[in-house]
Amino acid sequence: MSEIKAKVLDKFQDIFGNAGEAKVYFAPGRVNLIGEHTDYNGGHVFPCALTIGTYGVARRRTDKKLRFFSMNFEGLGIVESSLEEFTPGGDKNWTAYPKGVMWAFEQKGMKMDSGMDLLLFGNIPNGSGLSSSASVEVLTGAILRDLYGFEVTNQDLALIGQYSENKYNLVNCGIMDQFAIAMGKKDCAIFLDTSNLKYEYAPVVLKGAKIVISCSNKKRGLGDSKYNERRSECETALAELQKVVDVKSLGELDEATFEKYQGAIGDEVRRKRAKHAVSENQRTLKAVAALKAGDLEEFGRLMNASHVSLRDDYEVTGIELDTLAEEAWKVPGVIGSRMTGAGFGGCSVSIVKDEAVDGFIQSVGEAYLKKIGYAADFYVVEIGDGPVIL
Ligand code: GLA
Repeated sequence: MSEIKAKVLDKFQDIFGNAGEAKVYFAPGRVNLIGEHTDYNGGHVFPCALTIGTYGVARRRTDKKLRFFSMNFEGLGIVESSLEEFTPGGDKNWTAYPKGVMWAFEQKGMKMDSGMDLLLFGNIPNGSGLSSSASVEVLTGAILRDLYGFEVTNQDLALIGQYSENKYNLVNCGIMDQFAIAMGKKDCAIFLDTSNLKYEYAPVVLKGAKIVISCSNKKRGLGDSKYNERRSECETALAELQKVVDVKSLGELDEATFEKYQGAIGDEVRRKRAKHAVSENQRTLKAVAALKAGDLEEFGRLMNASHVSLRDDYEVTGIELDTLAEEAWKVPGVIGSRMTGAGFGGCSVSIVKDEAVDGFIQSVGEAYLKKIGYAADFYVVEIGDGPVIL
């Protein structure tokens, strides 16, 4: 038995008792290599699941009660609820995520006739932009499927997770995070066309380099409302473009076509937002082609260009993420570096040659501390599989 499995079962025993009747599950976190803020614009994304994520220990109950405990928020103790207490937008702590998924299953006609005891332990830093919330959502879906016998595929788990986030937690996110987690595959990134959910696994062959995550430790506060704001800016820009060109989404435009019609967007800020959505989608296509051709240098250059676009046109980086990326670019042996996830804090992702990793962590870490006033954290990560029963 793995060390973590033993640890979470022990804790379940302490908190709820009779751990012998419980099962252990895992769902990963994710990092997006390129294709940011494209998933709600009908564009492409290129994320991968990680080997870090969320562990869940669960057991069905005979009554309608739901009892939750998180080892990441031990101070909250056991949070009690029931199958009769689902209030979209109304939960004030982490239980909003598993409850949202239970509610979403019910909405889709899959009713739970009895409650459960659920203990979680996550080794993804919370609120870091590595999708700790989508990880909990997909994990919960995998648990419900197993404990209640619901017939759903991993892709369904992604869609139900997104539905719960949109309708229960009121964040208008795209499909990328839940899809990357539910469909994760070891050592591969997922090249996903969000306009039709067609996808392809692309082996991430880094030839003597590693993926390093730099966590800014800036917590996102107003991030989610800005997220919804960016999304509606893009929707308005699309509606303006649709008056002059026949497209269903910004993802259908290449740069030349966008250039030709962009005058139809009546506001400079919205023009920049749409420009990012268009150019980022094109960069993602080019980056995947470069990776397939073994041209890692080109992949890295496109990552850097993605950051610049997110900084200047989409304006979702901020001084913390800019410092992480810009300091990374200065380090010899860094192939590419960019913010990842929604932005407004969270993490950057860098591809760094093996021999340069220690120096990278030291020099980016020192520069970050000096400029920002608190430390960043660094994780050398590996690409893992989707949800599993342990
Ligand atoms: C968040 C959302 C995703 C995606 C990214 C930005 O992670 O949950 O759907 O939009 O931001 O690329």
